[in-house]
Amino acid sequence: MNVLLLGSGGREHAFAWKIAQSKKLKNLYIAPGNPGTALLGKNVNIGINDFEKIKFFCLKEKINMLAVGPEEPLVNGIYDFFVNDEQLKEIAVIGASKKGAMLEGSKDFAKEFMQKYNIPTARYKTFTLANVNKGFEFLETLIAPYVLKADGLAAGKGVVICENIDTAKATLNEMLNGKFGAASQKVIIEEFLTGIEVSIFVLTDGISYKLLPEAKDYKRIGDGDKGANTGGMGAVSPVCFVDDTFRQKICNRIIEPTIAGLRAEKINYQGFIFLGLMNNGGDPYLIEYNVRMGDPETEAVFPRLDADLLDLFEGVATKTLDSKQCKTVEQSAVTVICASGGYPDSYKKGFEISGIENINESIVFQAGTTLGDNKLQTSGGRVLAVTSLGNTIENALAKSYTSIAKINFQNMYFRKDIGQDILNYKK
Ligand code: AMP
Ligand code: GLY
Repeated sequence: MNVLLLGSGGREHAFAWKIAQSKKLKNLYIAPGNPGTALLGKNVNIGINDFEKIKFFCLKEKINMLAVGPEEPLVNGIYDFFVNDEQLKEIAVIGASKKGAMLEGSKDFAKEFMQKYNIPTARYKTFTLANVNKGFEFLETLIAPYVLKADGLAAGKGVVICENIDTAKATLNEMLNGKFGAASQKVIIEEFLTGIEVSIFVLTDGISYKLLPEAKDYKRIGDGDKGANTGGMGAVSPVCFVDDTFRQKICNRIIEPTIAGLRAEKINYQGFIFLGLMNNGGDPYLIEYNVRMGDPETEAVFPRLDADLLDLFEGVATKTLDSKQCKTVEQSAVTVICASGGYPDSYKKGFEISGIENINESIVFQAGTTLGDNKLQTSGGRVLAVTSLGNTIENALAKSYTSIAKINFQNMYFRKDIGQDILNYKK
């Protein structure tokens, strides 16, 4: 198979790593990719939203399958673009349709869907500038802290949690008045859920599904979950509280109603569903849907996946996923992100990265890197994702931190407490 993968982050390096191991692969292309993906396939300089150029490339290189890493092209309708094009319609697209991608692209749509299909989630209401006073009244019915969410995509920054009612009201006003541009023309106010979060990954062909290994990510910049929100500073898999009982609840209460709901709404969905869940006293509540894999979770999940990814994708494309093998390896995986000092605020780029070549106990996925003067340099906030497998989480952690000690770039920063909450978790 000739495969084109869209994206350029650590997640896409992990996709490329897994796809490159497939028996079914002939040629792998990544658009635009990064220096890490270039070690596994051929990078092509095309933007993820440049559908016309993607089309031209697919026809020229006889691409059989398009795998989509990030949500943006899906929200912009790349699935529909392929299906509705006479020349492209035979190419399998692994990803949600434009309507399906609204599960991530519009939080209002997602919440309405959850409510309609009785999927456990936080109580909520949606407001616009026209009924902002109703929003203030609704806030009065909730107890602190208050959760306010921009309806649309806001580069991962659209959720604001306010500690008191006055800040919540002021924030609602700001959001409705354009704090996140068009994304916050509608704002969802919802009840605050307590508990511990987990990321659940599902691959579906629209009829059946496979549950991939779960992961926990570490969103805050600082140790002890302190400081600003980031794209994610690390991940671990498995997550101890996701046992058979909890997993069964997730399947029965969330995944199966979601897939049944998509079918009832006649929404095509042949791709990944990422559930952001809260474990509240042993019961799963859905915080959000994403229509892609998580980053950095993918870098911990794919190394635990005992399956040929292209074989699974073929099952997705031909709606025969049910007949495919998908197992999880027993070992634990840990990913620690090496970031540019200053991230998620401003930071400098262009520092030379050294030491990766000395690492043999971990896999180094590249995220924010570039080649300058033929040398690997930093080019983003999250620079590297260092993943290790081990018989225990402790063992995998030790490997990742030993590997990181061999890596060097100016201002390198990483969290030192990845996985500690899971190691100390008491049921
Ligand atoms: P999101 O951008 O939707 O991933 O949300 C960012 C983060 O906000 C989530 O990962 C949670 O930590 C938190 N969050 C969102 N909704 C709620 C909620 N209803 N209760 C508690 N925390 C929430
Ligand atoms: N790590 C969370 C996400 O990918 O959204």
